[in-house]
Amino acid sequence: MSIGFFNGEFIDIDKAVIPIDERGHQFGDGVYEVVKVYNAKPFLIDAHLERFEKSASNISIKLPYSLDELKKLILEVIERSGIKDAEVYFQVTRGIAPRNHLFPNVEPSFTLTVKPARKVPEQSYEHGVQTVIAEDDRWAKCHIKSLNLLPNILAKQNAVEAGSFEAIFEKDGFIAEGTSSNVFVVKDKVLYTTPLTSNILPGITRAAVLQIAREKGIEVKEEKFTKDFLLNADEAFITSTSVELLPIRSVDGHLIGDGAPGAITKALHQSFKAMC
Ligand SMILES: Cc1ncc(COP(=O)(O)O)c(C=O)c1O
Repeated sequence: MSIGFFNGEFIDIDKAVIPIDERGHQFGDGVYEVVKVYNAKPFLIDAHLERFEKSASNISIKLPYSLDELKKLILEVIERSGIKDAEVYFQVTRGIAPRNHLFPNVEPSFTLTVKPARKVPEQSYEHGVQTVIAEDDRWAKCHIKSLNLLPNILAKQNAVEAGSFEAIFEKDGFIAEGTSSNVFVVKDKVLYTTPLTSNILPGITRAAVLQIAREKGIEVKEEKFTKDFLLNADEAFITSTSVELLPIRSVDGHLIGDGAPGAITKALHQSFKAMC
């Protein structure tokens, strides 16, 4: 059963509980996390909680709970839900106060939901997905997992309307990341991914994949690369909590390699699944 939690109370997920003057609702003035649950266990929960605290502190919000308390709450909600393969979403906002840009002197709001995990069709993993390049018109602090996702939403919608799965943002001539994913390329057996700067979100899946690759003895380069480099890659894939590792079949209609998921992509995904 899907469950909601708002400011200390478990709630029916469909019940209206957010006051009109809640700042997440009015300004997107908050940050969030998504954690995948495999067989009732939250995956890489500590890394997600640490990123959550960092995102919140980057916009001067103090979490209303310690990370230990949050972890206990998340475990409790998963157990209450009885959902084995779930997705836990949580967010913190600057709180509830009459609409005004200035920070109010109120407690932050905390929302959490647990729902069955969304599933990517198996054939997307078997054949890879189509992607398109989009101009990165987001703000300058993409390392913060902010609630403000308007450019991501618009680019994703355009991509899907054009028959693709994901839009990949290009910034100043270099590949940044997907609308909700990080991007990897394999060229001559070397694994490349965009380095961590304020241009991209430090993906938890990205970090796990880099760790797996290094353990497997695959050479890894966290380096900037261009759209041309991506088009000429032997393999490419995107990563996120929701999709894990998803092979890219094409970019703007150009096949990557022969279009089929490559050997290194498949091996990394196998190891990733074993880790979950
Ligand atoms: C913009 C963006 N980049 C990358 C990712 C992947 O991050 P993670 O692997 O932590 O889910 C996400 C996840 O939603 C995202 O929104």
